[in-house]
This record gives sequence, structure tokens and C-alpha cells, in this order.
Amino acid sequence: MAVDSLKDVAPTMDEVNIAAWGADDIVRHYAMASGWLDEGEREALAYALRRQPDGAVLDIGIGGGRTTELLEPMASEYVGIDISPKMIAAARLRFPEASLHCLDARDMNGLESRAFDLAFFSCAGLDAMDLAGRRAILGEVRRVLRPQGLFVFSSFNNEGPWAQSRIGLFMPRRWCDLRTLAGNVRRSLRDLFNANGRIGLLATHEQRGVERSLRLLPAFGFRVFAMFSTCRAIAAELNRQGFIIDRILTDRGEIVGDATRPPREASWFYYLARKI
Ligand SMILES: C[S@@+](CC[C@H](N)C(=O)[O-])C[C@H]1O[C@@H](n2cnc3c(N)ncnc32)[C@H](O)[C@@H]1O
Repeated sequence: MAVDSLKDVAPTMDEVNIAAWGADDIVRHYAMASGWLDEGEREALAYALRRQPDGAVLDIGIGGGRTTELLEPMASEYVGIDISPKMIAAARLRFPEASLHCLDARDMNGLESRAFDLAFFSCAGLDAMDLAGRRAILGEVRRVLRPQGLFVFSSFNNEGPWAQSRIGLFMPRRWCDLRTLAGNVRRSLRDLFNANGRIGLLATHEQRGVERSLRLLPAFGFRVFAMFSTCRAIAAELNRQGFIIDRILTDRGEIVGDATRPPREASWFYYLARKI
């Protein structure tokens, strides 16, 4: 199904995700998260901070403050925001001195234009938005960034293993790797067990397209909708919104040389986009 037909289910996507970001168990999960998510995140931020040393940083979707711990010490000025009041409360408990605000990135009216050198939306948080929401966030990020400022974000790979059919997720990458197969089966059974009847949403709202797809993530028992995109779709979206891609990294931190033929084994990519 073509991605533009997602508009029909957009309110549902927002409702489902907003409920998830306010759920006690999910807030507890993010309140305990710490450290870099993966090598790609570490590399992407190291590169961005080399480009914009001592810059003012806007950290979007901070959850329980995992990235506050990592970025605040490196920034000349740090502002963290999240749409969920419960996430912000959890982050404030951990970092009472930090500048943390409950704000929807689709409308950052409270933040001044051209105030930041670097904006970061971690953990594929941008993918929790419908197309209109993504556009609004890119516009707002562009507004609050200084000229040549960098927007760093991760986004699920529509050609990667997580975007495959659920049957595909059971498959080990190498046939001889039985431990991978056993791990995948165990994880999938646990996810199904935790789904609590939400599986119905899969059938009614999941959509699969060549450039983008909409999927319920197995994590947290299918309670978060995410948009998966190809690098081509993201590049086009960024260009339309006044950004150019400076660099793309895989989740393992490898540089993607050719955005038209990115590695299929990456579950998500890190995009470093410069405001033009
Ligand atoms: C996947 S969680 C990641 C949390 C944290 N960044 C981490 O990596 O541990 C995504 C976060 O983005 C927040 N979020 C989602 N949509 C948002 C929006 N429109 N504006 C601000 N925050 C948002 C959610 O409340 C949630 O805390």
C-alpha cells in the first residue's frame, strides 16, 4: 500500500503512541536507560560534536534522560524536551539541574529561532510521527537551528530486518546459526504473549510500501507505531525541508557511502542533516 494513504490512520498512530509514552512500565523502562544505544549513535554524536564543538544542543524526545546524561556535559547550552509529562518528570528526578521541558516537537513555539547548533532526536523518535507530524518537526527543527546547524536523528530502515515480515524475523541471518533462530523464536513468542489482544491493530493498520511502511513494534507488546523509510525517502524529505545530508551511519557506526544502495542488514540509520 502506498505510504501516502497513511493519512487515513494518522490520528490512530498518534493516539497509540501518546498512550505508550505515558504508560508507567514504558516510562520506567526509559527512566532506567543509560549509555549509548549503539555504536552508530555514539559515532553520530561524536562526529556532530566535532563539527559543532561547544554548541547549543536541543535534545528532542529525551524520555527518562538517557541522552541528557550524555549530551549535557558536552554542550555550552543544553535544552531537553519531551511530549510526555511523565517522561519529563522521570528525567527531572535524575537531572534536577538540567533545562528540561514538556513540549511537542511539532510546535516548539516556546523556543527561539536560530538558537541551536545541534538538534538530536534519538531512538527513532521521529518515526513515531505520521507524515504531517514529521514535516512539522523538520520545519520546527529548521527554524530553531542556526544556519549550517546539524539535525541528527535515527530512523528505521524500510529495507532492513525489522521491516521484514514477521516470518522473516524468525530467520537467522546464517542458516547454521541456531542460537540466533532460538533467540528470535523466544523473543517473538514473548512479544506475542505481551501483546494482550493488541494484535488486532496489526491487521487493521500495518501498511507495507516500497519506500515507507507503518509497523507496530514488537517491543513493549506492540504498543508503538513506527514509520520505516528507505534512505532515498528520507533524503528526499530532508531536501524538501531545506536540509542536505552530511553523513549517514548504520546502527554499527559504519558510514553509508551510497544512499541509493544502503546495507540491508542495518535495522536503522543515523542521519546527520545540515540546515541550508
Ligand atoms: C523511543 S522513546 C526514546 C527515549 C529516549 N530518547 C531514549 O533514547 O532513551 C521516544 C521519546 O520521544 C518522545 N516523543 C515522541 N513524540 C514526541 C514529540 N512530538 N515531541 C517531543 N517528544 C516526543 C516520547 O515521549 C518518548 O519519550
